[in-house]
Amino acid sequence: MKQKLLLTVITIVALAAMVGNAQTNNQSMSDKSKTLVAYFSATGTTMEAASKLAKLADADLFEIVPEIPYTPADLNWRDKSSRSTLEMQDKSSRPAVASKVENMAQYDTVFVGYPIWWYIAPTIINTFLEQYDFTGKTVIPFFTSGGSGAGETMKYLRPSAPGANWVDPKNLNYMSENEMKSWINSLK
Ligand SMILES: Cc1cc2nc3c(=O)[nH]c(=O)nc-3n(C[C@H](O)[C@H](O)[C@H](O)COP(=O)(O)O)c2cc1C
Repeated sequence: MKQKLLLTVITIVALAAMVGNAQTNNQSMSDKSKTLVAYFSATGTTMEAASKLAKLADADLFEIVPEIPYTPADLNWRDKSSRSTLEMQDKSSRPAVASKVENMAQYDTVFVGYPIWWYIAPTIINTFLEQYDFTGKTVIPFFTSGGSGAGETMKYLRPSAPGANWVDPKNLNYMSENEMKSWINSLK
């Protein structure tokens, strides 16, 4: 009887160890090629594109939230003294970000999304990039705009993550789900 009980206990312990092992292996497998979609969006357009992208690319989603939110007045590009105009005139401005990506080290591909402001990326994207070490990671910029292309985006983004393997920025304005899928596949 005692022997039978001992055997049962041993079997349970062995099974538990196997399950634990399998979970650890799965964890390390998926950690090997994790993808993050990080984005800043002032009025929701880039957010929509980023959510769609994260779903299709099977990626985690992270919103780059400004410590001080942008008000409609801040976003008025016709106003020479609005916050966005002043920030974009000063390429060294670094608006603070409210939160941080937990364990950036686990991602080897990072999509970074933003609206085009004055033909380039808002400087809060530089703040975001400068918070982490992107050495060896693939960084894929994407954007939405009122019609402009990427402009000189890369001239200002590259120095904020010099060790990254940069991919050319992608315009996601009006991109259908199928187009997005084939773009994601083309990156593999
Ligand atoms: C301050 C500011 C500057 C902008 N500059 C440009 C620009 O140079 N070219 C352009 O096509 N759209 C420009 N836009 C429009 C945005 O890029 C466009 O509306 C974008 O899709 C907004 O994305 P969001 O809703 O994620 O913030 C600008 C918008 C703002 C607020």
